[in-house]
Amino acid sequence: MLRKNILLVGFILIALLPAFAKEGMWIPTLLNKYNIEEMKQMGFRLSAEDIYSVNKASMKDAVALFGTGCTGELISGDGLLITNHHCGFDAIQNHSTLEHDYLTNGFWAKTRQEELPNPELSVRFLNRMEDVTTQVLAGIENQPKDSATVIINRNTKKLIANASEKGRYEAAVQPLFYGNQYFLYVYEVFSDVRLVGAPPSSVGKFGGDTDNWMWPRHTGDFSYFRIYASRDNQPAKYSPDNVPYKPKKFFKISIKGIQPNDFTLVFGYPGRTQEYLPSQAIQQIMEQGDPDKIKIRDIKLGILAADMDKDLKVRIQYASKYANTSNAWKKWQGEVKGLRRLNAVEAKQKSEYEFKNWLEANADRKKRYGEVLPAFEKLYAQLAPLTKANDYYSEIVLRGTDIFNIAAFFEVIDARWSSFSSADQQKIQSSIRSKLDEYFNEYNQSTDEKVFAALIRMYANDMRPEFLPEDFKILMSKTSKEDLIAKIYRKSIFANRAKLEQLASGLNAKKLKTLSQDPIFKIFRSLKKHFESTVEPTFNSLQKQIDATMKTYTAGIMEMKQGLALWPDANKTLRVAYGKVEGYEPMDGATYDYYTTIEGIMQKDNPAIYDYNVPQALRDLYHKKDYGRYGKNGQLNVCFTASNHTTGGNSGSPVIDANGNLIGVNFDRCWEGTMSDLMFDPDRCRNIVLDIRYALFITDKLGGAGYLIDEMKIEE
Ligand code: ARG
Ligand code: ASP
Repeated sequence: MLRKNILLVGFILIALLPAFAKEGMWIPTLLNKYNIEEMKQMGFRLSAEDIYSVNKASMKDAVALFGTGCTGELISGDGLLITNHHCGFDAIQNHSTLEHDYLTNGFWAKTRQEELPNPELSVRFLNRMEDVTTQVLAGIENQPKDSATVIINRNTKKLIANASEKGRYEAAVQPLFYGNQYFLYVYEVFSDVRLVGAPPSSVGKFGGDTDNWMWPRHTGDFSYFRIYASRDNQPAKYSPDNVPYKPKKFFKISIKGIQPNDFTLVFGYPGRTQEYLPSQAIQQIMEQGDPDKIKIRDIKLGILAADMDKDLKVRIQYASKYANTSNAWKKWQGEVKGLRRLNAVEAKQKSEYEFKNWLEANADRKKRYGEVLPAFEKLYAQLAPLTKANDYYSEIVLRGTDIFNIAAFFEVIDARWSSFSSADQQKIQSSIRSKLDEYFNEYNQSTDEKVFAALIRMYANDMRPEFLPEDFKILMSKTSKEDLIAKIYRKSIFANRAKLEQLASGLNAKKLKTLSQDPIFKIFRSLKKHFESTVEPTFNSLQKQIDATMKTYTAGIMEMKQGLALWPDANKTLRVAYGKVEGYEPMDGATYDYYTTIEGIMQKDNPAIYDYNVPQALRDLYHKKDYGRYGKNGQLNVCFTASNHTTGGNSGSPVIDANGNLIGVNFDRCWEGTMSDLMFDPDRCRNIVLDIRYALFITDKLGGAGYLIDEMKIEE
């Protein structure tokens, strides 16, 4: 951003220059209406039809929802797909053993036969999408709320049934703008997706949790998969007879390099944003929700880190849990800081004031929307204590400790056992064994015991007394709690693999009944039951009222801003975000460049620090400056920042240049911009992108998998 002393000149310049950082995750079918002109001004050379079309192959045919929460894109005519390393992490981990430690050493299938199937993984492509608001809302006029919901559900079901064409497609109807609009999405789902290649974690996760959410960044966050289809190129279950999928469209790759202000387009599946929340909600997130969750995870992560540092086995066991726990924990901290810097509550109050003024000007509007703002005031005040209880319950009881997790698993089975058919009971039996393997492979009793002792104490101390069951209060009032926890772990079957396996083999109602005497089972069930009776009903009912109010509020905003471009919150459907290659000023007195190079990897290199231990082969390539066609003038670019509005789920998204070529793979956001799920700041919100040249360099030179590059189309 321009400095204050040249503000005036800057102002004039800005007015003349095309717009820079852009808020918004846009619906691809609506680009012509609002955005395409601006995109063209910013340098885009293609049309809306090139991005999304039902009449011809378009970019949307090459962008997949990868698994349940990432994006991936096709980069060859043989179904080769690239996504992030952290998106392929589970698959890579599942194939890793002590002898073949693909996480540590990387994995490169040398032939198609060596590509590894992943039963749990599927990818989907959007076949088409359509505004179905009229059809969904047909017949609800003058109906009471309850019957309106029934009608909406019925209409939705019908639309889905029609669109899925007897199972050929998977269809979904999703609300936008809190249900003021509905869209139908029709997907083609491929379930034979095989792992093709991944760099070692020392590249793919370089910088680890230390660098996560941060710029400058040097992570080679990519992995390759291949989609397989039946011989007639249709989606098919895994079979050795399947053949590589021949896509309608795949991305060409440009290794020409990037310049500041180059146009960038991110096309992917952003998960969730909440840009329309009122000031009270923002205040609650900043002052209560985020701090509570941060505080709980602070404690947990501290314990995990200490144990992981001491013992390599524990490090491996808890690597994935640590990364997941730390990811949101770190983001929330950036979010709070960013919201504070933006004076987010005041900013929201200002727009609410404008809304109020707009209402005052017209009696009709006031009648329609006048109740909204006072309702928020009341509802959020009621919600605050329940949100706190809900956050504690979900952070501590539901996902805080290993032992509660496994108890929860058995609690559900126990509660529903008699309602299962004997076939289902059989199925559960056979799934339990692998569940227990998975569980105990990633479990260290003394670590979990420490986490449990600390978190359960927080639960007892911080929750309002009425949200705690009596038996739990009595238990926790007993002196010398450490002993108590140790005793509980000694006695509980959930800390005893052999006994638990014994119980699980030949499971029946009688065996399940013995669980009700288990100390962990008893505490877990008591906390659960109490939460379900004292917190959940009111919490859910308030949330429902808030959603209904949000619907009216956004309808009002849409009416107020008629003609202006508005984008609906992300909801894991395909969206376009456009921006530019640009750096930013993270704070007063500092400017961040828009790219990093391999020099930075070498500067961070430190064999003593796990996250910064550069593989020797990469050091060697660096010393020889052996960058092939991926470097230029002795420089090898690694990552860059751009001003696309992205969120969780955009990981793995293609970053596309003005000509529609792939220049990078999106994988993160910068620390100063992590509040962008709630409020966007054009000055500081940047997405972090893996430069495709670094991915290709690693594939070719470090992985020796140049044959993969041969199947791509590269523009030099
Ligand atoms: N922050 C990125 C995202 O939200 C990357 C997370 C994976 N990496 C990690 N070190 N935990 O998903
Ligand atoms: N790292 C995120 C993801 O996995 C992307 C983001 O939140 O910016 O989707």
